[in-house]
Amino acid sequence: MTGLSDSFQRPINYLRISVTDRCNLRCAYCMPLDGIHPMPHADILTYEEIYTVAKAAAAAGINKVRLTGGEPLVRLGLPELVRMLAGIEAIDDISMTTNGILLARYATELKSAGLRRVNVSLDTLKDERFRSITRGAYGVADVLEGIKAAKSAGLKPVKINVVVMAGMNDDELIDFAAKTIDDEWHIRFIEHMPFGDGASAASFVSVNDMRKNIETLGQLEPCQAGVGNGPAKYFRFPGAKGTVGFITPVTEHFCFQCNRLRLTSDGKLRPCLLSENEIDLRKPLRSGISSEELKLLIEKAAACKPLQHHLSEGRVPKDRPFSQVGG
Ligand code: 5AD
Ligand code: SF4
Repeated sequence: MTGLSDSFQRPINYLRISVTDRCNLRCAYCMPLDGIHPMPHADILTYEEIYTVAKAAAAAGINKVRLTGGEPLVRLGLPELVRMLAGIEAIDDISMTTNGILLARYATELKSAGLRRVNVSLDTLKDERFRSITRGAYGVADVLEGIKAAKSAGLKPVKINVVVMAGMNDDELIDFAAKTIDDEWHIRFIEHMPFGDGASAASFVSVNDMRKNIETLGQLEPCQAGVGNGPAKYFRFPGAKGTVGFITPVTEHFCFQCNRLRLTSDGKLRPCLLSENEIDLRKPLRSGISSEELKLLIEKAAACKPLQHHLSEGRVPKDRPFSQVGG
C-alpha cells in the first residue's frame, strides 16, 4: 500500500465521514437559528456507498475513520455501518464524535461492531444552560449517562469536547477542569470558530485566556496525548486521573499537521473544513465508477488541500452550516 499525501507533502491518513446532517439537538452556534432544511434522503449516501468510498480511501492510504454528523447516532442502524467499516482490513481505528444523547442506548452495540472510541460534545454542566444552548428536549443527565455507558462498554478513551464562548460557558472552565482530577475525564477546550449565527468577536475566548483561568486551580503539566494524533495539546494537574487538552483553531492554527479529508453525508469530499472546495463522489458512485477511478478521485481531493485556512482574515465558508461538515 502506498501512502496518500497532499501537494505540501502532508501525509493524509484520516477520513471524517458525516453520516447525516440531522441532529437531535440544535446548538445555537452550530445550527442556524431558523433551523436547517434537512437534505432529502435520496441525496444522502447509503451505507453501501459510504463503504465503497471508505474501501477506496483505504486503498489510497487512509487508516483512520471518524463518524460525525449532524449527530451520527440519529441515523438508523449505525452499528451496521461500523461493522462494515471494521471489515476493511487497512482501517485500524474507528471513532465517533457524538453529542452523547443516544450513547446509553447504543454504546455496547457500537463497541461490539468495532467502534474503538468516542468524543462527546458537552459545553456545560448546568442543566438549564444546556437546554438553552442545545434548544432541545434533553438535559445534561442524558449526556452524562451516555458517557458512563461508553466507558463501561470499553469505548476508550472518552474525550469531552467543550467549545468555549464568553458569556455562555466561560464561567465553567474551572468546574470542567476539576472533573479531570478525581475522575478519568479527558476534556478538550476548543476555541470557537466564527461561523454562522453564533459568531461574534465579543464572545471569543483564546486558549491563552482559558489556561490562565484554569491554572488558578493548579499548575498544568504537559503530558502525552493518549490515543489519536489530533491537534490538541494535553496537560494534567499533578496526580490527576484525567487530562486537560486545548485546541486552538483560531489563535494558532495547526494546518501544517493536517492529515484529514472529509466526506459529507451527500457524498462530497471536502479537502478542508474551512474551504468551500468539494469534489462530488455521489454522481460517479451512482453511475458505476470503478474502485480504481474512485481511488483517483480521492487522491485528487488530497492533492487540492489548501495550505491553511484564512480565519484570521475573516474568510469563513458560507456554503454549509457547521452541522453539515461534522466539525
Ligand atoms: N467552533 C469550534 N467547534 C465547533 N463545533 C461546532 N461548531 C463549532 C465552532 N464554530 C464542535 C462541536 C463538536 C464538534 C462536532 O464540533 O462542539 O464538539
Ligand atoms: Fe448537533 Fe453537534 Fe451541532 Fe450541537 S454541535 S447541533 S450536537 S451537530
